[in-house]
Amino acid sequence: MPSHGREPDDETCPAMRVTVLGIGHVGLVHAVCMAEFGHSVLALDVDTSKVASAGNGRAPLYEPRLEPLLRKHLAAGRLRFTADYRAAARFGKLHFLCVGTPLSANGHVDLGQVRAAADALAPHLTESRCGPVYRATGHGARGSRADPPARTRGG
Ligand SMILES: NC(=O)c1ccc[n+]([C@@H]2O[C@H](COP(=O)([O-])OP(=O)(O)OC[C@H]3O[C@@H](n4cnc5c(N)ncnc54)[C@H](O)[C@@H]3O)[C@@H](O)[C@H]2O)c1
Repeated sequence: MPSHGREPDDETCPAMRVTVLGIGHVGLVHAVCMAEFGHSVLALDVDTSKVASAGNGRAPLYEPRLEPLLRKHLAAGRLRFTADYRAAARFGKLHFLCVGTPLSANGHVDLGQVRAAADALAPHLTESRCGPVYRATGHGARGSRADPPARTRGG
């Protein structure tokens, strides 16, 4: 985790408005790190208890140094939390999908959460947007065909 934030006007990485969809272990850490890098972050989860907890400065998971940085960027207004996909679509220029990709019983990666997130975001998009997906492949995923996530309107 970076120890100091980039200047928002850094020419090599200008500050952006980004969203992080899914604030599990990967998503919450990613959201806080994006804020630490100087970006404005709106982080979303369908689990409203996680949204409320993180929005109040209590990380719903343990990661060293995470909670102080979470509180720092909440206080600075650089990091906010929501369960509202419309708000996320309007806010973000770049959407990071950090939802879960569990293994199904047959060992293939279950992309149900990725599709659900893309499908929830897409109707609210009015311009072309990019949506990188964080995914780890597990045993049995290699060689299987994963359907592309739902195409998003305009992007
Ligand atoms: N945890 C790790 O160490 C690790 C490492 C590398 C890669 N990854 C990959 O990163 C991704 C996320 O992993 P994780 O461990 O953070 O998962 P997680 O299961 O801890 O978190 C997923 C979050 O997504 C939320 N969610 C589910 N459906 C949603 C939806 N439709 N819209 C918005 N939010 C939704 C859940 O409520 C949960 O908070 C996975 O693809 C995983 O394979 C994880």
